[in-house]
Amino acid sequence: MKIIMLGAPGAGKGTQAKMIAEKYGVPHISTGDIFRANIKNGTELGMEAKKYMDQGLLVPDELTVKILLDRVSNEDCKNGYVLDGFPRTIPQAEVLENALNDINDKIDYAIDVDVPDENIVNRMGGRRACPGCGATYHVEFIPPKAEGICDTCGKELILRDDDKPETVKNRLEVYHKQTQPLIEFYQKKEILRTVDGTAGMEDVFAAITAILG
Ligand code: AP5
Ligand code: MG
Repeated sequence: MKIIMLGAPGAGKGTQAKMIAEKYGVPHISTGDIFRANIKNGTELGMEAKKYMDQGLLVPDELTVKILLDRVSNEDCKNGYVLDGFPRTIPQAEVLENALNDINDKIDYAIDVDVPDENIVNRMGGRRACPGCGATYHVEFIPPKAEGICDTCGKELILRDDDKPETVKNRLEVYHKQTQPLIEFYQKKEILRTVDGTAGMEDVFAAITAILG
């Protein structure tokens, strides 16, 4: 099963992608997480990506596409994967489609987690992330059991660098301009499914599993 998660920054793509990955036994692949791991490790790729991410801009397609195609060619992806944050532009979607065509394969569903802009800023300000295992929480909506501490690995939770209100505003603008056209792109291919992302986390997941079966 090969799935793409679409949706604005903060719509809950990562939250749902992790749950899908666990239920269906496929890897969760987030280009944002890959970039953040590279930034943390001080790699050349990380330093390059950070220049764009800190401004809320997209990392150039040339860099992103190569990383993603490498990742999906790994052995653990042979039964499928859930892509979170890729593709984010029409050219990225076309590269992925062509690469899959070459091996006689295709994406099964593109799931759009639909959340209006008004809800997004609230979610981002309250998000806390675990620098150890990548788990995501929300101070109000999805709090950890002990304040500021990851339920899974016990590490101290952090606020993401790009979750500052002015950067969130840029990310939303970039989303509407560069990423939202993918909704029509996948609609035309008849694999788009939309879920209401303003519902609670478990209800959103139930809507997704009803689609995936
Ligand atoms: P990326 O890491 O992908 O960030 P994003 O798309 O902006 O999305 P987020 O991770 O912020 O949100 P999410 O939808 O995963 O929401 P979450 O589940 O955390 O990308 C970061 C940057 O990397 C980009 O800006 C770009 O620079 C670069 N990049 C990455 N991929 C790229 C690509 N392909 N091409 C070019 N550049 C790329 O949820 C948000 C919050 O809400 C959390 O606190 C969560 O707990 C809470 N929440 C979740 N679900 C619910 C719910 N149902 N109700 C209430 N709260 C909820
Ligand atoms: Mg995410």
